[in-house]
Amino acid sequence: MTMDHLIVHEAHNVAMRDTPQHFYDKQPSRGSYIKNKDQYTEWYNQSINNPEQFFGNMAREYLHWDKDFTKTLTGSLEKGDVAWFLNGELNACYNCVDRHAFANPDKIALIYEADDEKDNYKITFNELLTRICKVAGVLQKWGVKKGDTVGIYLPMTPEAIIAMLAVARLGAIHSVIFAGFSAGSLKDRIVDAGCKVVITCDEGKRGGKTVNIKRIVDEGLNGVQSVSHILVFQRTGNPQVPMTAGRDYYWDAECAKQRSYIPCVPINAEDPLFLLYTSGSTGSPKGVVHTAGGYLLGAALTTRFVFDLHPEDVFFTAGDVGWITGHTYALYGPLSLGTSSIIFESTPAYPDYGRYWRIIERYQATHFYVAPTAMRLIKKVGEAEISKYNISSLRVLGSVGEPIAPDLWEWYNEKIGNENCVICDTMWQTESGSHLIAPLAGAFPTKPGSATLPFFGINAAIIDPVNGQELTGNDVEGVLAIKSPWPSMARSVWNDHQRYMETYLKPYPGFYFTGDNAGRDHDGYYWIRGRADDVVNVSGHRLSTSEIEVALSEHPAVSECAAVGIADDLTGQAIIAFLALKNEEMEHPANPEDLQLLRRELIMKVRGSIGPFASPKSVIIVEDLPRTRSGKIMRRVLRKISSNEAEELGDLSTLANPEIVPKLLSAVDAQF
Ligand code: PRX
Repeated sequence: MTMDHLIVHEAHNVAMRDTPQHFYDKQPSRGSYIKNKDQYTEWYNQSINNPEQFFGNMAREYLHWDKDFTKTLTGSLEKGDVAWFLNGELNACYNCVDRHAFANPDKIALIYEADDEKDNYKITFNELLTRICKVAGVLQKWGVKKGDTVGIYLPMTPEAIIAMLAVARLGAIHSVIFAGFSAGSLKDRIVDAGCKVVITCDEGKRGGKTVNIKRIVDEGLNGVQSVSHILVFQRTGNPQVPMTAGRDYYWDAECAKQRSYIPCVPINAEDPLFLLYTSGSTGSPKGVVHTAGGYLLGAALTTRFVFDLHPEDVFFTAGDVGWITGHTYALYGPLSLGTSSIIFESTPAYPDYGRYWRIIERYQATHFYVAPTAMRLIKKVGEAEISKYNISSLRVLGSVGEPIAPDLWEWYNEKIGNENCVICDTMWQTESGSHLIAPLAGAFPTKPGSATLPFFGINAAIIDPVNGQELTGNDVEGVLAIKSPWPSMARSVWNDHQRYMETYLKPYPGFYFTGDNAGRDHDGYYWIRGRADDVVNVSGHRLSTSEIEVALSEHPAVSECAAVGIADDLTGQAIIAFLALKNEEMEHPANPEDLQLLRRELIMKVRGSIGPFASPKSVIIVEDLPRTRSGKIMRRVLRKISSNEAEELGDLSTLANPEIVPKLLSAVDAQF
């Protein structure tokens, strides 16, 4: 058992935290939707024992259906043919915008907090509807119809939300690519998804800097024949940004020609709503497929019950719409419930570390949802700013994307929550669509460091990874899996259902495998330990070490490489890349400056191939990599050595080249 496990097990003994009275006092309706643990348990049991009835009722209560469904659930995890709300038809844009625009036209839908605060503005549901219809009109004119895929490469501006909903309005499928991805990554995703239209902007603004978005699109789409049209929002209006005649069109000019209302195209509940590419432990990124009915219901229900979100609330998700958190909790969750959502284009440090708190004060935000990595940064360098602002409107503080250590949980609770808020540590994934394990604010006590209990319909199981058996009862450790289908689970991998089966459903037949290690403590609360595979979580961004290795090995000097994730104070995990150079390079050892230059080049290679967020923290050049007799690289050895845990290297009897270990140790020492 490692140190990490000992520390975490001690944390199991932390006391439960009751919901602070202030949480209820601050609430418009005085009381949470789910009143207490008994009500949670009753609803949870119903959702597991009779999912058809439970989710059938919920779907009719929270979503608008153009055509009612005839059967709530079919298929199984064994076969990978799960389907919810059969024959039902709906439109996600109608659910998120039209119905609220009709009932409450002047209510604020989006609050745009621009990179430069003087560019901020708000959009009502009615205005949002008009703006979406105009973009949908442009897309329709270009031939986009139900089932087509549209790529979106936009920074976190209202236009990103408008673009997504315009695509959904037509019954088409959006595929958002985070605007920090490189031209090559963008191309791979656009080509795999077969997009015929891409929506982007001229330049982005982030932290006062200008990002050449359109240039990246031009480079990525060079030679991609399938893309016939590109819609370019003029974020900065720089006239120097090149436009290709016959392919590129300005957003404003095209929208001006469109009507302010076009009807929604209802689609089948099981038709895809969007694709979102995510990294696995092997191979190219997977286009995770989410469906219109189940996904939207999961987004609405978790937003309502986990965050206890009321219509008067103001929801602030700090994450980008390029990732699943932005999809579900900046857009589909809050808007499907008709609640105002803050769209934040900038960074927590710009123009100063008071930025988040100014936003909360300015809009009286009730909910703040962020990755622990941002909190670690603020704790380290920006704490003094917090007390300058009145952030007492807050009621729920969410955490997402990586484990939140108990001490950071306490800090979040005290410094931001003033011990008046509920901390919702939400565990979920791109593939789950919405929360898997999370507290229901106000319903039951929390525990610092634990994601607490499964959401309705999440039949969570801990499995022994060695024999594949489910570990029942409490105080168990293993891998986290889900035993029955839930509405917002991904249905497939785009164009590769086999890969979907292999990755999620075949490892433990009858279960969905999350890829995470987890424990269930004596109170039945879940503790997420981190990934069980070669996926690394840097600043809440999920990265595949194999993708980083592919990027590095494309450099002509590299003979072999291995990237591993190690714990990092600021980013949660960080990437350390070990590599051996080709013979000719080794025979003429370069001087230290040349090596330094090479290291920098290699980091730039990863930035260029994937994006800046994937940069290795260190590149360590070694003579050889530790390998087994069959030639497999022993990453465990590299992980331990770079984590300063050389005394815990464990069994090295399978190592074919043990003489490499001291050399690795001194290479790591020299680097850090
Ligand atoms: O390892 C888990 C970690 O993030 C992975 C999912 O990453 P991604 O698909 O990019 O989605 C991130 C946003 C939902 C999971 O397999 N993870 C996510 N939330 C938590 C977490 N680990 C611990 N605690 C969490 N709250």
